[in-house]
Amino acid sequence: MNGIKIRGTGHCVPEHVVTNDDLAKIVDTSDEWIASRTGIRRRHHCTTENHTSLCVSAARTALERSGVAPEDIGACIVATLSADTAVPASACLLQRELGLPTDIPCFDLNAACTGFLFALHTIECLLSVSPRKFGLVVGGEYLSRLINWEDRGTCILFGDGAGAAVVESRAEWPSIGAVMGTQGDDQLLNVPGLESGRRSLISMDGTKVFKFAVETVPACMDAVLRRHNCTVDDVDFFVFHQANARIIDLVVRKHRIPPEKYYKNVDEYGNTSAASIPLVLSELQERGRIGSGSRILAVGFGGGLTWGGAMIEFA
Ligand code: UT7
Repeated sequence: MNGIKIRGTGHCVPEHVVTNDDLAKIVDTSDEWIASRTGIRRRHHCTTENHTSLCVSAARTALERSGVAPEDIGACIVATLSADTAVPASACLLQRELGLPTDIPCFDLNAACTGFLFALHTIECLLSVSPRKFGLVVGGEYLSRLINWEDRGTCILFGDGAGAAVVESRAEWPSIGAVMGTQGDDQLLNVPGLESGRRSLISMDGTKVFKFAVETVPACMDAVLRRHNCTVDDVDFFVFHQANARIIDLVVRKHRIPPEKYYKNVDEYGNTSAASIPLVLSELQERGRIGSGSRILAVGFGGGLTWGGAMIEFA
């Protein structure tokens, strides 16, 4: 099977910023509680934007940075749980907006916060048998429309945004070697569907999900390192799903990862689910902290339950 590398990334977040103090006017909370328990200070919520516009903007930047033309894209996957429409898939809307070819698969994938990594693995497989060797993977969320404003335990957590990556597939490149798992559970993290008779709002047992995360992320990291036969020292950068700064702090302490090798933007964006990992990748590329030749270990976890990790390289 061919391996993939990233050619370019992009991201887009809504303009409207919601601070912790703004939330303290709506629910019984405080900047001190939110910042100390989660590391979140601000999040961006859609007002004039929507899911499609965020994804289109992130994808355009990724195409520009990669120098790849839309007509050379061989597959497009949008990882999301909050698209504007159930049908058409947001990937089909993206295809139309960007002018991607019509003889390629464009579809959405829901693996909650692990969606971007599931999508990278899927596109690696698809491109291996495709005559076109470039692919577009987007993680995009409009979570603010799924927020239960009567639940102070969850309404403070989530933000909107999109991140995108253009990847290239080549026979001589190693696979990203994705490690993935799922475990059916509708209690720990749940967003009811259309037919449930309940409003489609996020509910979560935060304490149990926290415990799941701090056990799963280190195990996932170890599995990726083993699969690639390398150690923490062989990795240039670690990218974690941005759900809670305390989860990241526990993981980097456990694996003795030096501060210059990881990054947190949960303070600015909150938890953006499937968008969080590509948002980090894009910000790091924009700031020149990662780029051609970088070897990045990315790990995600979330509702489903789902978890996954992969070794991502930049071409
Ligand atoms: O991306 C998907 C994965 N999701 C996650 O990784 C989320 C993981 N979980 C978490 O990040 C944390 O569990 C939370 C930030 C969601 C909650 O933090 P916690 O330290 O687990 O708090 P808790 O739910 O145990 O609540 C502790 C107390 C409770 O009060 P009592 O019962 O001790 O009096 C809550 O009612 O804090 C209270 N509380 C709040 N107080 C002020 C809960 N939310 C708030 C709030 N402001 N927003």
